[in-house]
Amino acid sequence: MQPLNVVPRDHRSGLSATEAGQVLTLAERAGEVDGAPPLSEQFRLSVEARATAGVGHLLAYAADGALVGYAQCRSGSDGEPGSAELFVAPTARRHGAGSALLDALPPEVRLWSHGDGLGAEAFAAARGLRPVRALDLLGRSLVGGPAWPPPTLPEGYAVRSFERGRDEEAWLAVNAAAFATHPEQGSWARADLEQRMAQPWFDPEGFLLVVPVSAPDRIAAFHWTKVDPPDGHRGEVYVLGVSPEHQGRGLGRAATVLGLEHLRRRGLHDALLYVDEDNAAALRTYRSLGFAGLQAHRQYARSAPDPG
Ligand SMILES: CC(C)(COP(=O)(O)OP(=O)(O)OC[C@H]1O[C@@H](n2cnc3c(N)ncnc32)[C@H](O)[C@@H]1OP(=O)(O)O)[C@@H](O)C(=O)NCCC(=O)NCCS
Repeated sequence: MQPLNVVPRDHRSGLSATEAGQVLTLAERAGEVDGAPPLSEQFRLSVEARATAGVGHLLAYAADGALVGYAQCRSGSDGEPGSAELFVAPTARRHGAGSALLDALPPEVRLWSHGDGLGAEAFAAARGLRPVRALDLLGRSLVGGPAWPPPTLPEGYAVRSFERGRDEEAWLAVNAAAFATHPEQGSWARADLEQRMAQPWFDPEGFLLVVPVSAPDRIAAFHWTKVDPPDGHRGEVYVLGVSPEHQGRGLGRAATVLGLEHLRRRGLHDALLYVDEDNAAALRTYRSLGFAGLQAHRQYARSAPDPG
């Protein structure tokens, strides 16, 4: 095994612009070879922003000084365990870099793997990681496949697009309420929203808000669609939520359909979405609208299972 050097970058040492660039290039190359990007959006954004608040970076270097792997850990919100993602350059795998990065992560963090057949399952089994959560990637065609029902909103509701300078705070409030029990999504702050609004893919036209006709500044439900790359063929159901006060009236289904119509009007071919495997209500809605499972993204824990 070649000697490896794992270098931490945190609030004390900071990630330099050059290091951030190298990590993003390495991630892009690994994604091309594996067919699935190794870092999810939040982790990639934190590399881009060279974030250090609640974020730690680990850089793995081979003996010749080449960057061969990267890991990031993020502290969890509200007592949730922290989460981590790690990957190794495809040309440097099976030389211990993944193990070295894993050993340098805090023991309690949970690790995400994105996509099947990339060594993660075997690595997890070899290193005593046990699967604790899964996100399903679902997809459907926008040009074929089962028809979806017409986008009919219950009486008293209307749809409009998100407006910068008007809707930020109301959206953060409804997102927090709708995702109160969700470990990541529910804790988004203004900076998380601003970071997404600054991305090249951000398009307020595709950020649909369902509002009461009598109070159009209040948000009852929303369907934020994402097209990344903006000239690509695939659209994503990026974040979809219904305010708890307005749940049970069919707004989730109506908002899903409104977003699908929007993506189809844009000329896209396919729609994708991620949903927690144990979110039975959301899974039922999406499956009934023609979505089918494509891939599972798994989260692994290192610690022993809780007693009881
Ligand atoms: C998973 C990953 C990080 C492993 O990195 P790595 O540097 O190859 O890992 P190591 O060399 O430390 O492997 C440790 C052990 O895991 C097992 N293992 C790792 N990859 C394996 C594979 N593709 N097939 C079978 N066993 C594998 C082996 O037992 C290995 O020990 P060995 O090489 O002595 O037999 C790497 O394949 C990767 O970057 N995959 C894509 C990103 C990803 O899935 N990340 C999620 C990790 S949970």
